[in-house]
Amino acid sequence: MKIAIGADHAGYLLKEELKKWLEEWNISYHDFGTYSAERTDYPDYGVLVARAVARGGFEKGILICGTGIGMSIVANKVKGIRAAVCRDPYEAKLSREHNDANILALGGRILGYDLAKEIVRVWLNTDFAGGRHKLRVQKISMIEEEEL
Ligand code: RB5
Repeated sequence: MKIAIGADHAGYLLKEELKKWLEEWNISYHDFGTYSAERTDYPDYGVLVARAVARGGFEKGILICGTGIGMSIVANKVKGIRAAVCRDPYEAKLSREHNDANILALGGRILGYDLAKEIVRVWLNTDFAGGRHKLRVQKISMIEEEEL
């Protein structure tokens, strides 16, 4: 499994912790930035990670901003992306089982490191349940094909 990760300045410190956890779990990743705590704009990094996942080079992505909300809005603009903001491990589990989320969005100003680590661990280790959820996810893809 290869993971694409990215953050703005508000998610930078949590991203640096996330890299340590991924290394501990022997999961390879590519860090799309930002590479310091200097002020940045979350869409610049969100779109890089979302496109990398949508193009198929990475199985999943993890994006971090202050709340996770901005990153999820950006990522969900990219066709094929299902980004979920998760604030606890139960949401992380269901975002995989029910929604087949392929990007996890986290709030660097919301979550403590221990809780964030458990959310990431659960999210990475939970498979899509398929079954009745498959048609629902297909319906999301169909919306992407619709003209306005
Ligand atoms: C940056 O101040 C903050 O707005 C950003 O990290 C994010 O929380 C936006 O959704």
